[in-house]
Amino acid sequence: MDQQEIIAGFSPDKTNLLAMLHALQDNHPQNYLTEESLRAAASHLRVNLSWVYGVAGYYSMFSLQPRGRFIIRICNSPVCNMMGSSGLIDVLGSILGIGAGETTPDGLFTVEQVECLGICDVAPAMMVNRKVYGNLTRKSLEAIIDELRILQNKPE
Ligand code: FES
Repeated sequence: MDQQEIIAGFSPDKTNLLAMLHALQDNHPQNYLTEESLRAAASHLRVNLSWVYGVAGYYSMFSLQPRGRFIIRICNSPVCNMMGSSGLIDVLGSILGIGAGETTPDGLFTVEQVECLGICDVAPAMMVNRKVYGNLTRKSLEAIIDELRILQNKPE
């Protein structure tokens, strides 16, 4: 679906901004919001571009920089931390060769550390794009990464 089709699916009401930005970001193969998409959103909603930039910059779920196809968000809040989430970052570092805030050279994975995902009962937890995973171990994390590599040529 192209950008204009996505935008046209929303009525021109500024309360639709967050949902529109999520849809635009999800549609981009590099999982980010381009300047062009922000301009188009502002124009459709008849609001200032600076306000749209402010909203996109405020929420950590949005990125203004290109990222990988799979965004791996490791929870870094206290419960997950006590259950070993920092070790998961080390595991990802050894599997993917990148640290938090980085993207693999093939553009497939970006690793991010985030605050509580709201599933503390299954700590340590992470989210990959919109899917959540809990009770993570080194072994399960390696299996998930292998699975994502297999999925890479399939549409989400
Ligand atoms: S502390 Fe990690 S999901 Fe809540």
